[in-house]
Amino acid sequence: MKSPFTLVLVITLLFTGLPFAFADGHEKTELGYEMTDMNRSWRLIKRQVRTPDKNASTIELVEKAIANAQESKPMKPDLLTDVPEAEKEAFLEGYQKEMDALVKHLGKLKALLEADDNAAASQLIRQIDGHRRDSHKAYKRPDEE
Ligand code: HEM
Repeated sequence: MKSPFTLVLVITLLFTGLPFAFADGHEKTELGYEMTDMNRSWRLIKRQVRTPDKNASTIELVEKAIANAQESKPMKPDLLTDVPEAEKEAFLEGYQKEMDALVKHLGKLKALLEADDNAAASQLIRQIDGHRRDSHKAYKRPDEE
């Protein structure tokens, strides 16, 4: 090590880089980042739907989730690499169809919140969670969260 400055630089790089490498056990894809972002809004949406006073803020979160789902649509699930060549097109079409369905569900959720119908919104949230589980089973690598 030539100078204390170099040593400090190397230590800093080590400590800023390591958490990214080991943070959650798998390398995050572009789609994974979009999903993580959407999940942040989704958890708040589920909490806030019980409080009609927060509907304005909840609607903003739903809008953010819609943007994430729209960004996700042209992306390719990591699992695509394991799909046989002859089935890749159908796999991608299916994925895109389910992402469109999510955008549609979220649009409906936004409308229900705008109408202050929090009971119906809660019910729809449960449906969207079911759709999320099914979509993850079909399109997401099982070793991921
Ligand atoms: C409320 C709806 C949803 C939420 C909150 C959500 C959340 C998440 C989260 C937290 C991950 C893990 C990200 C990571 O750490 O890498 C993930 C991954 C993934 N999700 Fe979703 N998801 C939702 C709906 C969907 C839907 C409808 C689809 C398919 C149309 C989908 C497809 C995927 C795929 C393919 C991955 C793995 C990433 C990759 O292959 O690169 N998700 N999602």
